[in-house]
Amino acid sequence: MAPLPRITAITVLAAAVLYVFTLDPSNMASLSRIAAIVVLAAAVLYVPVRRWAAGGVCESQARMDGKTVIITGANTGIGKVTARDMAERGARVILACRSLEKAEEAAKEIRNQTGNKNVVVHKLDLASLASVRQFAKVINDAEASLDVLINNAGVMGCPRWETEDGFEMQFGVNHLGHFLLTNLLLDLLKKSAPSRVVTVSSLGHAFTSGIDFDDINYEKDYDKGESYRRSKLANVLFSRELARRLEGTGVTSNSLHPGVIYTELHRYQEKLIHGAVGARFSKVANKIIEGFVGTFGKTMEEGAQTTICCAVAEEWQNTTGLYFSDCVPKEPSAAGKDDEAAARLWDVSERMVGLKS
Ligand SMILES: NC(=O)c1ccc[n+]([C@@H]2O[C@H](COP(=O)([O-])OP(=O)(O)OC[C@H]3O[C@@H](n4cnc5c(N)ncnc54)[C@H](OP(=O)(O)O)[C@@H]3O)[C@@H](O)[C@H]2O)c1
Repeated sequence: MAPLPRITAITVLAAAVLYVFTLDPSNMASLSRIAAIVVLAAAVLYVPVRRWAAGGVCESQARMDGKTVIITGANTGIGKVTARDMAERGARVILACRSLEKAEEAAKEIRNQTGNKNVVVHKLDLASLASVRQFAKVINDAEASLDVLINNAGVMGCPRWETEDGFEMQFGVNHLGHFLLTNLLLDLLKKSAPSRVVTVSSLGHAFTSGIDFDDINYEKDYDKGESYRRSKLANVLFSRELARRLEGTGVTSNSLHPGVIYTELHRYQEKLIHGAVGARFSKVANKIIEGFVGTFGKTMEEGAQTTICCAVAEEWQNTTGLYFSDCVPKEPSAAGKDDEAAARLWDVSERMVGLKS
């Protein structure tokens, strides 16, 4: 947030708080004045808070004509906005989605909005290693190049479901599915260098102390929130280790936090809150969070900016191994910089997805 709106907002709020303390709450006139001040403070704060929440904007005008971009989970949310942006820049855009029906609908909308007919759909269910392998085969057989792979799809806060291969769902989809997918597309990415791998993580990665290698599949103890945070930490560690392994190939790898955006990602949120506040309050608490994120969080367009920046901006063409937020590199958590854990996670993941026995 720029200093001037911040100072204005804080001054107005402080003045309002001081004024409220001088009022007599038993008096109706005072109560209505309190209400008026609260509304005024909210109105004054809205613009600076929204401006701060909107974050950075991708200023790059880079065209993507002749380039091919794959985006996982591109039928909705920030993935769809990213796909539209890539199409506007002239790229061949491949929407990699588990529901062909939803993906076709999104592709049609993007083609109509951008006039780019080169927007196609392929089935990819990250909760199935067979589907990941099938998708990679289709791409490797048919595509001459792959310039940007955007690992965007994600699931948050679901019950302890398992993928087709018996992995806990959040770790399986958010990390393992993307891990296998990226590895299977690496030769094509190398052949197409300079090329980029962009992995959408979350600030949530910073709220866990690390990967529990003794219970990586959550067989002993499952916590929906912790599983999501660890899967997002796995995204950061994977991206970092990938960058190390790709040094000198011309393929970069960066991860990012998109911001807080009200999308379908929050579909299991009420159940998540249920655990914390109980059944009676979970509906109300969920509505409050929905209202708060909807009002003060990023729009989907704002939420897609950091992904777009990492995918196209000329200034980041040779940048690799970093974690971005609001379109600039930021420090990940200490656990997100643990290179030993990153190497161990790579090794364990290779075994889990069958790349190594
Ligand atoms: N929204 C936020 O506040 C926020 C904050 C930090 C990080 N992120 C990250 O941003 C990314 C995009 O999230 P979003 O907010 O745009 O969520 P979203 O609207 O729920 O989109 C998620 C996408 O992932 C897809 N997906 C889920 N499971 C899949 C599977 N098994 N195989 C293939 N695709 C699958 C969904 O497909 P269906 O439509 O078929 O379910 C959907 O297309 C995620 O990685 C998320 O962790 C979001």
